[in-house]
Amino acid sequence: MKSQVTTLGQFIIERQTDFPYAKGELSRLLRDIGIAAKIVNREVNKAGLVDILGEFGTMNVQGEEVKKLDVYANEQFISALSAGGETCAVASEENEGLVHIDSEVSKNAKYIVCVDPLDGSSNIDVNVSIGTIFSIYRRMTFNGQAEEKDYLQLGKEQVAAGYIIYGSSTMLVYTTGKGVNGFTLDPSIGEFCLSHPDMKCPTSGKLYSINEGNYVHFPDGVKQYIKYCQAIDPETERPYSSRYIGSLVADLHRNLLKGGIFIYPSTHKSPKGKLRLLYECNPLSFIIEQAGGKASDGFRRILDIQPNSLHQRTPLFIGSADMVTMAEEFMAKYSPVDAS
Ligand code: AHG
Ligand code: MN
Ligand code: MN
Repeated sequence: MKSQVTTLGQFIIERQTDFPYAKGELSRLLRDIGIAAKIVNREVNKAGLVDILGEFGTMNVQGEEVKKLDVYANEQFISALSAGGETCAVASEENEGLVHIDSEVSKNAKYIVCVDPLDGSSNIDVNVSIGTIFSIYRRMTFNGQAEEKDYLQLGKEQVAAGYIIYGSSTMLVYTTGKGVNGFTLDPSIGEFCLSHPDMKCPTSGKLYSINEGNYVHFPDGVKQYIKYCQAIDPETERPYSSRYIGSLVADLHRNLLKGGIFIYPSTHKSPKGKLRLLYECNPLSFIIEQAGGKASDGFRRILDIQPNSLHQRTPLFIGSADMVTMAEEFMAKYSPVDAS
C-alpha cells in the first residue's frame, strides 16, 4: 500500500519527467535547496531565544560568532548549492555581485540560482513569519564563469522557482512550470511532506495588502484602487479587509491560498518600487501565474520585464487575476504611463 506521505524527495523523483532535458540535475538542485531550508529553519526557530544565544555579533555559548539571520541564511544556501554541484553561480540579495561557484564538483554545473535568503528581515526579532525566495535558470553561456546574460534573463525563462515560509509551520512551495505544489516540514522526521498538491490562487478575493503608510506618495491609480477596496458595496462584499504582514513571502502565501492582491507600488522613497525583480518579483510571479494568478508592475507582466541589473527594483501588483486586472485598469485610467 502506498504510504500516504509523499516527501519532497519522492515527489521530485516522481515528477522527474517534468523536465526531460535535465537528467536529474534540477532534481538534485531542488534537493540542495530543501537541505538548506531545513538548516535555516532550525536557526530561525532559535532566533527568538536571542538572550540564550546572545545578540548578533557576539559569541554564543559554543564560542561561535552569532550572525545576523540574513547573513547566516545566505551562507547556508550558497554552501548547500556549492556542495550540490549543480549551480555555477548565485545572484543573492546579500551579495553586491554574482557569486561564482568554482568548486571541482560544480565544473559542469548548468544552473544559476537567484535568491533572497531571508525575506522579511524587519520581522525576524518580533517572531513574525519570514521566508526565503529562489529562482532557477539554465545558464546560457558555457565558456568559463557565468556572465551577465546568464542571470539577466527574462522571468519567463525560469526553469523553477519557489519559496520557503518559516511560519506557524515551515512550508516549501515551488513550481517547475507544471503547476504549484506545497510541502510542509514534519520536524518529527525532518522531511518536507506534500501537503498542498496543485495549489490554485482564487481568481478573486476580499483581501488587499499594501503599506498604507506610503499613501501620500502612491500613484493616483493606486490611491483610487484603495478607495475602491474600501468602498461599501454589499454586492461585491466590499469593503475588503486589509492585511499587511511586511514579509512579502507571508503576504503572498496568504493571498495565494485565500485570494487577494498585494501591491508594492512606486513610492517617494522607492520611485521604482522597493522589491527586487530577480529574486523577489520574478520567482513569485512565476509561481502565482502557475497557480492561475497574475503579476505585473501595474502595466507590464513581470515575467516579460528585461532585467538590466542584479538588484533592479520594480513595482509589484500580484495575486488574484481579477483583482490585479482591476488594479491595472485603475492605473491605466488615473496614472497612465506616458507613451514616450
Ligand atoms: P527583505 O527583508 O528581503 O529586504 O524584504 C523585505 C521586503 C518584503 O519582504 C516586504 O514585502 C517589504 O520589504 C516590506 O516593505 P515595507 O516595510 O516598506 O512595507
Ligand atoms: Mn525580500
Ligand atoms: Mn532579504
